[in-house]
Amino acid sequence: MPVPIIRSRNELRAIVAGWKAAGETVGVVPTMGALHAGHLSLVRAAKAGSDRVVVTLFVNPRQFNNPADLAAYPRTEASDAEKLGPLAVDVLYVPDGDQIYPEGFSTTVSVAGVSEGLCGTHRPGHFDGVATVVTKLLLQTGADRAYFGEKDWQQLQVVRRLVTDLDIPCEIVGCPTVRESDALALSSRNLRLSEAERAAAPALPQALDVAARAIVAGTPVAVALDDARAAIVAAGFRSVEYLELRRDADMAPTESAEAPARLLVAAWLGDIRLIDNLPLPAVERARQAG
Ligand code: PAF
Repeated sequence: MPVPIIRSRNELRAIVAGWKAAGETVGVVPTMGALHAGHLSLVRAAKAGSDRVVVTLFVNPRQFNNPADLAAYPRTEASDAEKLGPLAVDVLYVPDGDQIYPEGFSTTVSVAGVSEGLCGTHRPGHFDGVATVVTKLLLQTGADRAYFGEKDWQQLQVVRRLVTDLDIPCEIVGCPTVRESDALALSSRNLRLSEAERAAAPALPQALDVAARAIVAGTPVAVALDDARAAIVAAGFRSVEYLELRRDADMAPTESAEAPARLLVAAWLGDIRLIDNLPLPAVERARQAG
């Protein structure tokens, strides 16, 4: 069954109102298209958790700090719609530009704290763009639950914060990162890697894994991070933009393996910027295993 495509927010609202009047719950999966197995896992989670599922597809210009990146972003609506057909998605919402940013639009949602550092430092304005469009998509869809991948861990924390702060009645569900068999996290950017770059790319998750284990085994954080940076560059990456250990609770930098924390990295492979993150294995489990 082809998925119905809706382009107007009023039409979407009328459909959702009908579902809610019938007592049905609504899940939304916000995307920028170029759907891969990671997105489809979010759709499956949404299908399992809600009566109705809306997938949104909007390439949001306000979250691109680099115009070349926006221009190069894949636009694959027809094949995206085809991928959603077998998953019985109820609506694919592909808003026209003016449905999100009408003439005179002047509001920015800006989340302090969790959006600072990491991608927030290296992509100025990015999280303002994400927070603004996600707020609009949650309000336009009226969804009860929204599904986001843990691969964009900092984005997930920004979305959680804004929903809490703005009293948006939507539960945010984080879903595990989907990886290739060689551990590379799925990303639409992977398609732009050359053959040699694709072969080098798994060094990123491997370096995180080695560093996470080393930290839990007692290696000082700074040493483990230096080793990981060296391994990533030795594998052929051009540079490591950031590599940090941050606490799960509040995203604060930490030097300790005691509280739940994760490593977050962004690195350049040629002209492609890849990000990934990995939680530290629980200290207790590692002690028992050792
Ligand atoms: O993760 C994404 O694809 C985008 O940042 C999102 C959440 C759809 C907002 O444009």
